[in-house]
Amino acid sequence: MNDVRDSLAPRRIAICVGSGGVGKTTVAAAIALQRALQGGRALVCTIDPARRLANALGLTTLGNVETRVPEHKLHEAGLRPRGELFAMMLDVKRTWDDLVTRHAPDPARRERILRNRLYQQMSAALAGSQEYMAMEKLYELATDRDYDLIVLDTPPTAHALDFLDAPDRILDFLGNETARTILAPAIGAGRIGLRLAQLGGGYIAKTLARFTGQEMLSDLGDFLRGFQGMYDGFKERAAAVRALLSRAEVGFVLVCAPTPFSVEEALAFHERLHAESMPVAGLVVNRLTPDLWPAGAGPLLAAAELTAALTAAGAPDGLAARLATTLADHQTLVTAEARTLARLLERTTDPRSLVPRLETDVHDLAGLARMAEGL
Ligand SMILES: Nc1ncnc2c1ncn2[C@@H]1O[C@H](COP(=O)(O)OP(=O)(O)O)[C@@H](O)[C@H]1O
Ligand SMILES: [Mg+2]
Repeated sequence: MNDVRDSLAPRRIAICVGSGGVGKTTVAAAIALQRALQGGRALVCTIDPARRLANALGLTTLGNVETRVPEHKLHEAGLRPRGELFAMMLDVKRTWDDLVTRHAPDPARRERILRNRLYQQMSAALAGSQEYMAMEKLYELATDRDYDLIVLDTPPTAHALDFLDAPDRILDFLGNETARTILAPAIGAGRIGLRLAQLGGGYIAKTLARFTGQEMLSDLGDFLRGFQGMYDGFKERAAAVRALLSRAEVGFVLVCAPTPFSVEEALAFHERLHAESMPVAGLVVNRLTPDLWPAGAGPLLAAAELTAALTAAGAPDGLAARLATTLADHQTLVTAEARTLARLLERTTDPRSLVPRLETDVHDLAGLARMAEGL
């Protein structure tokens, strides 16, 4: 069976998805590094890199700036790339601004929205904003640049599927006539609480419930009115982004850890991608406990046998027993992880790569390169 690297070879866009903390950001960077090592021009668009990883990639500023990772840094890590590695950090606010600027019918309207206080807090105010802007940025990079591979990291949401649903939810909110017509008069009359109740318990009501105070609400009303007429442009663009995600040049990389929760999330995402005809490039199982007795290397020794063998080999009594216990515990973990993964591996036939848990966090180029070997 192919591994993830082979599966990504003919593609131009890789999107790393998975539940929080499984290693999406690190895997995304490792994939880009790998392509650069092989001779490609590769870009990783990170969302929330750990500070040390960001430093290692030379990412000191936000602002959607694509920076080339200096060759000498790669050399210092013992790497000899035949291609080029670029990295950037998604700037959610800036991406929103660009989008508004693109769709505003005139400068006055653009300024009205950009200056709106609620708008300025939009990235925090609207749930899913980061996901939406990640897609938007990807579309821009995919259409305007000539990288051989663009790797998109995705936001640290607990649930991987949020990534696909966020843009629609936000667009429904922005384009919602009910919200607009209910809000405008209610704001004036100070009857917002009552009116909010009429919106039910969905996303819109929950979002609005976060804003309290008359001032915030009039900002919100102003903001929604400002978007009037721009909605269609946003919707069209989102549809184009969505269409991009179904092209064969794109590959979703499902990243998971060998834990039941993470595996279930990966399976749910997998099902969803198939249902929506979006291409899966493969599965990366990350942070796997290394198997000290891989299949074929002989049966796993029982702790008693192991103690006997170690004692026979001259190890002091107490030490042999402790070592045997540690190794047995280790293998118990390996067995448990294998059982968890069996579900995933049996139910999918996609290319897969197993990446071991390394001794330390992955925060430098050498660590990324070690991870890339596992891909
Ligand atoms: N294979 C691995 N071995 C050891 N540490 C890892 C491995 N993969 C990721 N990590 C570490 O786990 C932490 C979370 O990884 P990250 O990529 O930020 O996850 P996510 O983006 O999915 O939230 C980071 O500190 C990272 O260095
Ligand atoms: Mg991350």
